[in-house]
Amino acid sequence: MKRLETDELWSAVDDYISDCLVASDAALDAALKASEAAGLPAINVAPNQGKLLMLLARATAARRILEIGTLGGYSTIWLARGLAPEGRLITIEANPDYAAVARVNIARAGLGGQVELLVGRAQDLLPGLAAEGPFDLVFIDADKPGTPGYFQWAVKLSRRGSLIVVDNVVREGAVLDPDGDANVQGMRRFFELAAADPRVSGTALQTVGAKGHDGLAILLVTTEP
Ligand code: DHB
Ligand code: MG
Repeated sequence: MKRLETDELWSAVDDYISDCLVASDAALDAALKASEAAGLPAINVAPNQGKLLMLLARATAARRILEIGTLGGYSTIWLARGLAPEGRLITIEANPDYAAVARVNIARAGLGGQVELLVGRAQDLLPGLAAEGPFDLVFIDADKPGTPGYFQWAVKLSRRGSLIVVDNVVREGAVLDPDGDANVQGMRRFFELAAADPRVSGTALQTVGAKGHDGLAILLVTTEP
């Protein structure tokens, strides 16, 4: 077999995994295509990560899901497909242009009835969501400096047994740098808060793949917040 450069190899393995286990379909393909056509950054989760989100939703029999950071709605579609019957997902997007693309993508996937897309800054909208919770699953994938605050809200809006998933916690290893940029500081502060919070038990996994070297944190809320 031809030897591939590291990042090519990661992508090739992602493709292999997705070819084996992650069926794509017209709605997911169209969501990515429309996102690209609209000039959204290609920072959506990879297909195998999307399916992980769906499986976590299913495994937790999630009836209420909160997503912070919709982008074009690709991860939203995966998460919403994991909802229990009659389940609902709320997703928050600060950028109205991204939200417009996401709205079409979500509707095209037939999920407009289960998904509520809120347009605005998460820090402004989260305090108003108490009556919509508790959420069974929260996926945080928005601006990285905001992550510590979103994590604190996620715990508040959870119940014992909820799962909180945080994307981009490794940043090509930059998370190790105490003097890193604002994104890195956001992730380091998130780790600090998670470590000190007696209401959650968490871990994180480094990921490599089509999206480079990054990581996902998964935290279980273990006591009633
Ligand atoms: C960025 C954001 C993401 O959510 C991601 O998965 C990858 C990169 C970014 O802002 O650079
Ligand atoms: Mg991300």
